Amino acid sequence: MKKIKASPDTSINFAGIKCKNPVFVASGTFGYGYEAADLTDINSIGAIITKTITLSPKAGNPPPRLAEVTSGILNSIGLQNVGVAAFCRDKLPLLQKLKTPVIVSIAGETAADYAAVARALNGKNGIAAIELNLSCPNLKKQIICQNAQLVNQIISRVKKACYYPVIAKLSPQVADIGALGILAESSGADALSVANTFPGMAINVNTFRPKISTVTGGMSGPAIKPLALRCVWETARRVRIPVLGGGGIATGSDAIEFILAGARAVSAGTANFIDPQAPATIAAEIAEYMKKKNISSLSDITGKVMV
Ligand SMILES: Cc1cc2nc3c(=O)[nH]c(=O)nc-3n(C[C@H](O)[C@H](O)[C@H](O)COP(=O)(O)O)c2cc1C
Repeated sequence: MKKIKASPDTSINFAGIKCKNPVFVASGTFGYGYEAADLTDINSIGAIITKTITLSPKAGNPPPRLAEVTSGILNSIGLQNVGVAAFCRDKLPLLQKLKTPVIVSIAGETAADYAAVARALNGKNGIAAIELNLSCPNLKKQIICQNAQLVNQIISRVKKACYYPVIAKLSPQVADIGALGILAESSGADALSVANTFPGMAINVNTFRPKISTVTGGMSGPAIKPLALRCVWETARRVRIPVLGGGGIATGSDAIEFILAGARAVSAGTANFIDPQAPATIAAEIAEYMKKKNISSLSDITGKVMV
């Protein structure tokens, strides 16, 4: 009989990043990454992904830009951030004090924008990897992921501009997310993040007005979990690089579903707004599940959904 481990090993190596557990916080749902220090033990999180940073500061979209909807949130924050220079000056020193790996999310409208942000971050202490937010609009106001040539240019230019592992965060707003994953891999991405929010809309029936200023926005939270899970399954089995799965994860059981679908790590986003301790709880629930099922390493069940 297999001996039951007292405490299962939840540690993972994700594209060269050593994490004590596979639960990351999703970009834009944990500030720049250190602000929740009074609300949770940040060092118990597998990795932190910062709010997306751009070359110049951005004010974001006008309010209202968040609406609570059934089983989720609709947001159109619009990449509000301090810009890469202020990030390096004011935010990074605070992030450098953390023991948790920090992944910096970046965005732009052109490949040159992304490369310039990556260059500004290159060589700085306390950065474990770069996540490319490829869900924002490009100069033609098209979602970047819908332009294969641009995706290829962004990934290859960022790879040349910095030494960090590069995680390409895919938008689900494409016809074939598996094919997009293959394109990102062949362009040089070290890992994929699947997926960002899904487009959605909500209307105030008293005022007849959309609930957010931009009319449509990105839907996140439990409502999107089956949609995101399908994206992870369709991507992970077609690439060799690791996949960070996310979308609606709120419990250890949710996370295990993503791991069975092929994710090597998972992210929690909207769950942080309900409970900043959610990532730590999810990680503890994963360990509990492993102990109960006598699983010694997460790699034993990654992608093992029986279809
Ligand atoms: C308020 C809010 C802000 C977000 N900001 C960003 C962002 O700056 N960059 C990014 O890549 N994703 C951003 N996201 C998307 C999340 O990182 C995540 O991919 C998405 O919310 C799905 O996961 P969830 O259902 O666990 O929240 C944001 C989501 C929310 C709810």
